[in-house]
Amino acid sequence: MERSLVSPLVWGDDGCLHLGDLRFRIQPFGLGPITPDQAECVDGRTFVLYRDRWTLEQYAAFLPRLPAFDPKRIFEIGIWAGGSAVLLSELFRPAKLVAIDLKRMDQIGPANVRNLEYYITAREMGDRLKLFWETDQGDVKRLRDIVRRECGGVLDLVIDDGSHVYRLTKQSFEALFPFVHLGGWYVVEDWSWDLQPGFESWVHTPPLSPLITSIVELAGSAPGVVKSVLVSHGLTFIQRGEAPLDETFQIERHIHHHRTRSASVRHVLSYPRRLLSRFRSGIRAFYASRIPRARGREQ
Ligand SMILES: C[S@@+](CC[C@H](N)C(=O)[O-])C[C@H]1O[C@@H](n2cnc3c(N)ncnc32)[C@H](O)[C@@H]1O
Repeated sequence: MERSLVSPLVWGDDGCLHLGDLRFRIQPFGLGPITPDQAECVDGRTFVLYRDRWTLEQYAAFLPRLPAFDPKRIFEIGIWAGGSAVLLSELFRPAKLVAIDLKRMDQIGPANVRNLEYYITAREMGDRLKLFWETDQGDVKRLRDIVRRECGGVLDLVIDDGSHVYRLTKQSFEALFPFVHLGGWYVVEDWSWDLQPGFESWVHTPPLSPLITSIVELAGSAPGVVKSVLVSHGLTFIQRGEAPLDETFQIERHIHHHRTRSASVRHVLSYPRRLLSRFRSGIRAFYASRIPRARGREQ
């Protein structure tokens, strides 16, 4: 057995991640013969994680930098087969973990459903781990209602591993980031898919990376909103500042560019070109939206 960077997580010789008596099978993107309904083992202790080992190691490298971080209220976007929700529950033991997914629960396959139900019942997790199926991350009203009802309107950690689509990821960020407590973290996973090989079939989907650029600009313009941003190859960790935010929060409103007069003139003169580019993006987004929205990474 090889010790992971984050104790007590252990990588087993079976290629699974072990945590206490729980086992997490890894389903890497693009490689899997494992689909959620192929989790053959119904023992309440075996779960599927739709992440590669390398992504988990990026978390493992990050978390030791925050020895005092003890998230009590966690919001996860993207349940898939439930493995990551169980892992987060066991790792942090939060008072409340809510997770949402666009899918119906029965779509994750009977073995995963039974393992999740067994885990929740046997460990009496019903009040602490709440899964919201058929919930779109772009449904900002529902997201806010869930946070207010389940988490008292305060979050310590948000992990967005949902659609990885620009518009939806931005909507969730603007809806949930105001609830993140001072010093808490918001993680956007797989932000760099448009910069990596293997995502050629997503070519008509607006990329997510410009959102991360905007969030870095936000840290530069408004440190009270975004205190810091840590970016790795596939993960972005965004730390909440102390400025109060409400439902009107929009990233662009807090970004202030200084421009010389000539730069301002150039900016105004470039308006038709920017308008045309936005029109083209709109056309691309329209065609992309004709591809089923619940694409996640399962495509
Ligand atoms: C990469 S998987 C999540 C993996 C999971 N966190 C894990 O580690 O095992 C992405 C999930 O996001 C869900 N998803 C896709 N679009 C969504 C949306 N608009 N709202 C909510 N969930 C969405 C998909 O159904 C899929 O289950």
